[in-house]
Parts: sequence; structure tokens; C-alpha cells
Amino acid sequence: MTTTATPREAFGSRAGFILAAAGSAVGLGNMWRFSYQASEGGGAAFVLLYIAMTLVLGIPLMLAEFGIGRRGQLAPIGSLRKLGGRAWGPVGYLFVAGGLLILSYYSVIAGWTLRYAAEVVMHGFSSSPAEHFVAVAAGWDAVAFHVGFMLATVLIVVGGVKGGIERASLLLMPLLFLMVVGLAVWAATLDGAGKGYVVYLKPDLDELMNPVVWRAAAAQAFFSLSLGMGAMLTLASYLHRDQNLPESATIVAFTDFGVAFVAGLMVFPVIYSFGLQDAVSASTVGALFIALPSAFADMGAVGRVVGLFFFVVLAVGALTSAISLLEVVTASVMDEFGISRRKAAIVMGTAITALGVIPALDTDALGLMDKIAGEFLLVAGALALALLAGWRVAGEVGSELLQGASPRWQRQVPRILVVLRFVVPPIVAVVLFFSLRETVTAIRGFLVG
Ligand code: PHE
Repeated sequence: MTTTATPREAFGSRAGFILAAAGSAVGLGNMWRFSYQASEGGGAAFVLLYIAMTLVLGIPLMLAEFGIGRRGQLAPIGSLRKLGGRAWGPVGYLFVAGGLLILSYYSVIAGWTLRYAAEVVMHGFSSSPAEHFVAVAAGWDAVAFHVGFMLATVLIVVGGVKGGIERASLLLMPLLFLMVVGLAVWAATLDGAGKGYVVYLKPDLDELMNPVVWRAAAAQAFFSLSLGMGAMLTLASYLHRDQNLPESATIVAFTDFGVAFVAGLMVFPVIYSFGLQDAVSASTVGALFIALPSAFADMGAVGRVVGLFFFVVLAVGALTSAISLLEVVTASVMDEFGISRRKAAIVMGTAITALGVIPALDTDALGLMDKIAGEFLLVAGALALALLAGWRVAGEVGSELLQGASPRWQRQVPRILVVLRFVVPPIVAVVLFFSLRETVTAIRGFLVG
């Protein structure tokens, strides 16, 4: 235990923690990246592989983070050092660096969603969405929206675990669920919806055997479940011992999948009713701000209302994810340097805002940062966590997971540990190898181009 004068903050309710963790997980990754990956990876084949990855890698790794965090009662650097020994401290620093990097560009994308929502209210969608996106994605306007989004994030984190993070999650997450379902129901009424469902839900069995799709499904699971950089670890460090961790992890993972899946039930019909499939495969984030807006623009007033909802959902999802990213960094600085939450959140929030100016001015830089952090750092972090929880401190993690769990869930704990020890590390190591190759290629491309 550190010798801080005030006791550690804590969540006020079971649901508060679950919604905060779900809030971290549900974000831009669900609303867009999932559909994009599914359209590239054979529709339902990707969806099936994604479910498999969630079960085999996602839930066990989330439990590794939950167990380590609640056991350590400190942010990543402190908890890893406390449990694993001094040598594990640097891994914690890597997590903090990951959080810093991810939030700096994630906030730029979130800023785009804010801008689109504001534009829809003021004058509707542009009739030439591709040109519009190119014009607004990078530049000082993008910086301004990024700063605005960071400001909101910092304000909530300054509010603390209970008064800020928990309160925001209890309010925003139900709202988000409702809006996503509403969007999917609306999409079902579109003329060409059936075609979209077929592409989305009919598995292309060749893709099921494709290692590229496997890797994509695994990397998507880490990103979407906020694993591999201590976000879940940090949230769990604010828990009392009565929370049922295995049950919570399962709920969070399925909520995350559910939102991604339902979002797909909206995205695919829209894309196929408007024949926009080519615009989708053009690029990842760009298409979100090009393909869908061009469909909304075609729909007149209805498109304006639906489009507004869509971009508000994106912004809300991004906000609850950004909170957890900033919390990793803030909590680590608080624990390591013993400074106040307010000071830590403001100083680190400002640093991240400054770093974000780079991706806000240069979309290539943004893409590169996403590759380095999203594809590589998270996977490397996940491997480290599996080794720590499955091998080095398996006993401690195991007994932590038993505490607060009902007998039914307690019976799963030994199984989870076996998976963390023997199944997760080899798979993640293979994924890491391919991710490293992709990342190096991306860096080379960036330097040359
Ligand atoms: N899970 C978030 C999303 O899907 C992104 C995220 C990654 C948040 C890592 C926190 C940590 O958008």
C-alpha cells in the first residue's frame, strides 16, 4: 500500500463499474471499425471469428486486467510493480504511453464527429462528402474540435471516479444503447436493407480460414475491449472486493459485441441501399465520414435527423472511451507523483491535447499513430498481461478472481487461468508477429511517402 492520506476512490455501485467498463469498451471501435473490418473480412465470417476471439482471448485478458487492478489497488505502473516486481514497472509506463498516444488521435476523430453533428444542425450534410471530408479532416478547425473534446474529457475525469466517471457512464451509456437500437430499427425500413443483411450475415467460409482475417479479428477485439494498455486494470483498481469479476467481464464483453453487432445492422443496410460499398473499402475512418454522410445527404430531412443521431452516438461513445484513456494516464501520475487528481488530469490532458495537434493537422500521421498504438502496442501489452497473470502471479490473480464471485463463476476461475497460461500467450505472440510486420510496413510507407 502507498501511504496516501486519503483513502482510494471507489465506484459507488456494481452497475456503475460495469457501465464505466462498458463505456470504455464501446466507442468508435464498435460504431465503425467493426463494420469496416466485417466488410473486409467476409461479413459473418469475421463476426464469428470475432466472437471466438472475444471468448478465447478477450474475456480472459479482461479478467487478467480486472484481477491485477483490483489486487494492486493502484494504476498500471504501481499495480504491475506491486504484483510483478520492479522489472514490471516499465511495462506500466508503456501502458501510460499507449494511453497518451491513443487518446491524442482518438480525440481528433471524436472532434470530427462533433463537427459533423454541429454541421448537420446548422446546414445539413454536404452534397460532396468526399471533398468536404478532405477539407475538414486536417487543419486548425480540426484542432479546435479536438481541443473541445479534450476539454469535456478532462472535466469529467477531474470530477473523480464516482462524481465524474461513474456519473457520466450511468447517464450516457443507456442513452447510447437506445440510440443504437433506434438506428438499427430505422435502417430495417430502408428499401435495399435486405442486401446489406445478406452481406453482413452470410458467412464467407473461405475467409473463416484466412489468417489475415484471424489477425484482424484479434486486433479488433483488443482495441474494442480496451485491452492491453491498462484501461480495465485502472477501472478495476477502484473496486471493492465484493464485485463479481468473471461475471462483470462477461457482461462487458457481450455488451461491447452487442453494440458493435447492432451498429452493423445499421451500417450495412445503409451502405448497400445506397450502393456505397466502394466508398467503404477506400479507407477506414475516412469512409465513416464520407460513405454514410453521402447516404444521409440523399435522404433529405430524414437523413438529417438520423445523421444527427448517428454522429451524436459516435461522440458519446468516444467520450466514455476517452474518459478511461485519460484516467489511465491521470491515475498513474497521481499514484506515482502523489499529486492531486485535478492537477494530474489538467497537466496530462494538456499534454495530450498538444500531442493531438499533430494528427489534427495531418491525417497520415493519424493513421500511423493508430497503427502503432492500436495494432502494435495493445497487442504487445496484452501479451505482457497474459504472461504476468497466467504465469508470474497466477496464484494471486486466481484468488482475486474468486473473491466476490458466485460459486457458479468461481468454478470458471481455474479454467480461465489455464487459458491465460497456455492458450492466450501463443496466439497473441503470433498475432504480435504479424502486427509488428504491418506496423513496420506502415512506418516505412509513412517515411517514404
Ligand atoms: N475500446 C475503445 C473503442 O472501441 C477504444 C479504446 C482502446 C479505449 C483502448 C480505451 C483503451 O473505441
